[in-house]
Amino acid sequence: MIDKINQLLQEVEALKAANAEELEALRIKFLSKKGAINDLMADFRNVAAEQKKEVGMRLNELKNKAQEKINALKEQFESQDTGCDDIDLTRSAYPVELGTRHPLTIVKNEIIDIFARLGFSIAEGPEIEDDWHVFSALNFAEDHPARDMQDTFFIEAHPDIVLRTHTSSVQTRVMEVSQPPIRIICPGRVYRNEAISYRAHCFFHQVEALYVDKDVSFTDLKQVLLLFAKEMFGEDTKIRLRPSYFPFTEPSAEMDISCNICGGKGCPFCKHTGWVEILGCGMVDPNVLESNGIDSKVYSGYALGMGIERITNLKYQVKDLRMFSENDTRFLKEFEAAY
Ligand code: DAH
Repeated sequence: MIDKINQLLQEVEALKAANAEELEALRIKFLSKKGAINDLMADFRNVAAEQKKEVGMRLNELKNKAQEKINALKEQFESQDTGCDDIDLTRSAYPVELGTRHPLTIVKNEIIDIFARLGFSIAEGPEIEDDWHVFSALNFAEDHPARDMQDTFFIEAHPDIVLRTHTSSVQTRVMEVSQPPIRIICPGRVYRNEAISYRAHCFFHQVEALYVDKDVSFTDLKQVLLLFAKEMFGEDTKIRLRPSYFPFTEPSAEMDISCNICGGKGCPFCKHTGWVEILGCGMVDPNVLESNGIDSKVYSGYALGMGIERITNLKYQVKDLRMFSENDTRFLKEFEAAY
């Protein structure tokens, strides 16, 4: 009898079933009322008394092993079961949260689009710049206040290296390696040592435009400015130019547009003047052309520069500049429909 039990134990150890039917057949063979183990149980009473203890233990062991093995195989089949019947494959997936384009990017792209239609192509330069490209090549005098520590972030170990304070530096980067006609638009981030508040930040964004060719005049500049203002803020927008000063342009001007919030009637945003300033511009100073290897007797040009935050504020009335860099998705989501 012991031999028979041992043989069955070995069989049980090696049990395999390829599917649920095979498993059921095994269950019947070993564990059912008429199965092999029950047969042995029935024979148990014929075992000699002195062997009963050992045979009983072995028989129990066999019964438990068979039960365990068959349960394990059953579990294996159940976990392989995909349960397809319970899954509704027609149900739509959970919505994936999509990000939105940043308002400054939306406005930057709009500005680029308008200038691209006029034949301007994009140029970029480094944010970590040297004094030459940010100031000297742009006709800043040695003692110009913009070089002051108050305004400019210098790299301590290299006072010649600065974080660019304006994207006009890209003008010089382009002019020093190319000859006219030059027609570029330069978007990018700039840095100034300002205390952070609702109206100032230590970094912001600008777009610079530069056109250098033969016979470029102030009239060309004015036409482009008017077209830009109308495209950006609507057909009814008016512009006005006020004389100003920049080291790199002569003559220089600042451009105002009719306040697009009150339509020029006067409101708190335009301080009741009906006008809001949006950019600086002018004819490229001949010194700048010469510093960058362009013959100022043959060529002339105009340049303009604007803050993207300022244009965005005007378009969308964002009251606090800090919102642009806080990454609050509730704020960003408000611009979902804008592109
Ligand atoms: N770079 C000037 C600034 O950061 C803006 C500017 C003014 C750019 C006049 C120009 C310009 O190209 O002609 O305030």
